[in-house]
Amino acid sequence: MEFADVVRARRMVRDYDPDRPVPPEVRERVLEHAIRAPSAGFSQGWAFLVLETAEERDRFWTATTDGSPSAHPTARDGWLTRMRRAPLLVVPLSNKSAYLDRYAEPDKGWTDRDEARWPVPYWDVDTGMASLLMLLTAVDEGLAACFFGVPPDRIAGLRNAFGVPEQYRPIGCVSIGYAGTDDKRSPSLQRGRRGVDEVVHRGRW
Ligand SMILES: Cc1cc2nc3c(=O)[nH]c(=O)nc-3n(C[C@H](O)[C@H](O)[C@H](O)COP(=O)(O)O)c2cc1C
Repeated sequence: MEFADVVRARRMVRDYDPDRPVPPEVRERVLEHAIRAPSAGFSQGWAFLVLETAEERDRFWTATTDGSPSAHPTARDGWLTRMRRAPLLVVPLSNKSAYLDRYAEPDKGWTDRDEARWPVPYWDVDTGMASLLMLLTAVDEGLAACFFGVPPDRIAGLRNAFGVPEQYRPIGCVSIGYAGTDDKRSPSLQRGRRGVDEVVHRGRW
């Protein structure tokens, strides 16, 4: 696909065909593109937990929800039922300590590891950029994807379920698969897209 078409076609899809797995070469392309993302100091303090078997995916949903289709914060209209059909889940995780370590190296020199030096949490920014590359790659390959959040009170459970080291924090999850026929667009889209003229400030605010 043309890059501009990929960007325009990308949207979060929340229903998947459960009978069409993600081809292994597509899965690998998604992951290879993720690690092309930029990162501050080339820290690359990210990791990606890939969940593909039914057992792995069940374990994810059990750890992050209470299993009832209406319990998840975004569970309106059977969100969970449709999302559980995704054949592939990739959990992007960010590692703050990798950034503090990297910037304590001689060429950066922030040996105090003071978090106040960071204007925003670049570990999460970079992992978010990697996530966007995964979303765009899925579209480019003719598949669908959705980035969604993990409730804060479920982060520890998610770590425990998959043996994730303490310093890695999931920033959310990306579901990937072929789009299902029962997708429901987010009610949030009724807000309308804010236009360039509304959000761009040229020269000064
Ligand atoms: C950081 C982030 C968190 C999101 N969390 C959720 C979520 O928990 N559940 C969900 O269904 N969609 C989630 N979304 C998707 C947004 O609702 C969606 O991107 C937005 O409504 C615009 O729609 P579009 O991406 O299809 O253009 C999230 C998106 C981002 C960027």
